Amino acid sequence: LRNFPFFEHLNDLELAAIAPLFVTKTFAKGVQLFWEQDEGDELYMIKAGAVQIYRHEEDREIILAIFHEGDYFGEMALIDSTKLRSASAKVLEKSKLYVLKREQFFALLKENPGIAIHILGITLERLRKANELITDLTITNARTRISRLLLRLSDKYGTTIGLKLTHQQIADMTGTVRETVTKVLLEMQNEGYIRIVSKKISILDKEQLQVIGAIQQ
Ligand code: CMP
Repeated sequence: LRNFPFFEHLNDLELAAIAPLFVTKTFAKGVQLFWEQDEGDELYMIKAGAVQIYRHEEDREIILAIFHEGDYFGEMALIDSTKLRSASAKVLEKSKLYVLKREQFFALLKENPGIAIHILGITLERLRKANELITDLTITNARTRISRLLLRLSDKYGTTIGLKLTHQQIADMTGTVRETVTKVLLEMQNEGYIRIVSKKISILDKEQLQVIGAIQQ
C-alpha cells in the first residue's frame, strides 16, 4: 500500500490497520471488470498491470483513460447518488488489483480525511483532462488531434510513451478511425517528428508537434 500516493502520509501503524480492508484480486488480460451503467460498490486500486476506462457510442469506443500501477478507479459509483458506473473498465494486461467495498471506503475516509483531500485533487486533475478532451474533439483535423494526444501522453510518460498502444486505441482516444491514425503516424515518422519501436512511440521533435497541435483560430 505504501506505493499508492493515497497513503503516502500514513505511518506504518496506520497502514497496518487499513491493509486488511483490501482484497487482492488478479485478472487476466481482456477481462471486463464492469460495464457503464452497472451498479457498483467497489473501488479498485492498481498494484500491477493496466486498465482501460471507456464509453460506448453506437459500435465505437471512446477511451477516457488508461490507468496503471498506483492509479485507482471506480470511486464515482461509490460516492455519487446514482450508484452507477459512469464508464466501462477492461483489463489491458494481466493485473493485480486491490479491491475495496463501499462501506470500507467510507470508513477509511472518516478515519483519514487526508485521503478525501487527495481524492479531490485527483478528481480535479481528471476533470481538467476531460475538459481538454472536449476541446480536442471539436477539432476537425485528425493530425492536430493526434499531435495533442501525443503531447499529453508525453507530459505524463516523458519522451518515450511507456504504453504499447494499438492504432485502434489511438483512434478511440482521439475520436478518429484506425486508418487515419496509421496514415498520420506514418507521415509523422517520415517527417522525423516521432519514432515507433514495438508499438511504443518516442517524441523526437516536440516543438513541431506543438506547431501541428496548435488550435487554429
Ligand atoms: P465509476 O463511475 O464508478 O466507474 C468508472 C470509473 O472510471 C469512474 O468511477 C472513475 O474512476 C473513472 N472515470 C470516469 N470518467 C473518467 C475520466 N473522464 N477520466 C478518468 N477517469 C474516469
